[in-house]
Order: sequence, then structure tokens, then C-alpha cells
Amino acid sequence: MTQAPKLVDTPAELRRTLRALQMGGARVALVPTMGALHEGHLDLVRQAKALAEKVVVSIFVNPTQFAPNEDFSRYPRTLERDVELLTQVGADFVYVPAAADMYPSGFTTQIVLEGPAQGLESTFRPHFFSGVAIVVSKLFLQSGADFALFGEKDYQQLKVVTRLARDLDIPIEIVPGPTTREPDGLALSSRNRYLTPEERATAPVIARALITAADAIRTGHTPVDAAAQARKTIAAAGLKVDYVEARHAETLAPLAEPGEPIRLLAAAWLGKTRLIDNIPV
Ligand code: PAF
Repeated sequence: MTQAPKLVDTPAELRRTLRALQMGGARVALVPTMGALHEGHLDLVRQAKALAEKVVVSIFVNPTQFAPNEDFSRYPRTLERDVELLTQVGADFVYVPAAADMYPSGFTTQIVLEGPAQGLESTFRPHFFSGVAIVVSKLFLQSGADFALFGEKDYQQLKVVTRLARDLDIPIEIVPGPTTREPDGLALSSRNRYLTPEERATAPVIARALITAADAIRTGHTPVDAAAQARKTIAAAGLKVDYVEARHAETLAPLAEPGEPIRLLAAAWLGKTRLIDNIPV
């Protein structure tokens, strides 16, 4: 019988517990989440278990990465179900800090990001990466984890966090996890549960358009043309497109030279739900 993960809810207890395990030789992997867990998160936990002796999953809906007009208040909070799922996959700890511990009164620190944080998501959600950077830095420092796993579904976030840990010498290895998809190609996301049945049927158009664009680039079309065609396809299905872009797969800079590694990235609104996806070329 699998055991429920131990619930930890203060930074002091997290640090004390994990440090004691590390002193005994265990490596610790952290999977940062905002809860409303799905199979994509569970795949990250499985991957974490293969890397480290102890796995901690943090659940914190981080207010600073939402703009006032975004879905912070309606973001799904499903702690009981999340703990059941984490029990099934054998997570050791679930860390659920209070907002007052993450952002004590008088909190004023900001992190300014450039490089991979520029453009794409930042054009449409300018507050987003500074909020993510603060919360993940705190989670890294509070946990002292050896590894942190981030899904490639949020590809720009993965690149920003990898750069952040390197730039600030935070002694943690950032490990990417492949995007988990529904059988029809839709990338799993906690926000998919906002979709109506009709929208859910339409949503895979983003993944399909990106796959077609990647094929087009491989067969000689320019990345700019292929991305423009994908944008048209997604818009024709009734979505409001924020961006479809081909970028350098590592730096996320605009493409400059032939032969650079390419990642196609897209974000679009389907009704009231914003979906993002990306694929390698
Ligand atoms: O990807 C997410 O769920 C969040 O952005 C993260 C990394 C947990 C930070 O709040």
C-alpha cells in the first residue's frame, strides 16, 4: 500500500526535514506546481523519483505571476485530490506554504529578467516571469533541493528558470520533462478544465498547426512563413492568437542564422482560456 506524502507547510520545517535527509545521503528532487495536478505533473514526479531518493512537490498558486485581470481567483484549487494523486505516484512530501510565508508583509524584492524572458509570453503577460522568478527562487532556497523538474510545455519558463539558477549560482540542477499530451495532441494543462466540450474539441488545432509548421520547415519552407501559416490555421479555427513564432531553441532569441536549432512556440485564446504549446523542429 502506498503512503500519503507528508504534508509540510512552513519553510522552516521544509528546510529542516530535507536537510536531515540530505545529510543522510539522500538526494532531493523538487517538482514546483500550482496544484490542480494532471498526468503531466505526475509524469514529472515519476521522472523525479528516478533521479532522487526523495521527491517533494510544492503546491502554491503564486499571486505575483498573475495580473489583476487574470485567473488567480478562479484558478482551480484541488488540494485533496492532488494529495490522492501524489499518493498514487509515491511523492514523499507535499509542500503547501502559506501566502504570508512566501510574501511576508513588507516584501519588496523584484527580479529583473532579460535574455530568454524577452518577448513571447512577456509581450502578453509582462508581470509573469518576474513573479515566477521570485517564487521559484524562494522554493529552491527553502528546499535546498538537488534537482527541480519543469515541464517543456512551459518552454519559455523552463529556459528562464534554467538561466536564473545558473546566473544566481543556485546549487540546483534544472531538469526538463517532456510535454504530456492527450491522445488527440492537446498538451495537458490545469487550465484545460476551463474549456467547454466544443472548445475542447477545437483545442488540438494548436498542436496540429505546430506539427504542420515543423514539417514545412524541415521540407524547406522558411520558419517565418511556416509560423505565419500556423497562425492562420489557428485563427481560422476561431482562436485569438497571441503569437506563433519560430525561435532559437536554446536562447529563444529571434532566428538569425540558417541551421540554428528551432523551437516553434504558440499562445492563443480559446474563448476565455489561454492555451500555450511548443514543439521542436
Ligand atoms: O508552471 C507552474 O505551474 C508555475 O509557473 C510554477 C513554476 C509552479 C511557479 O509558480
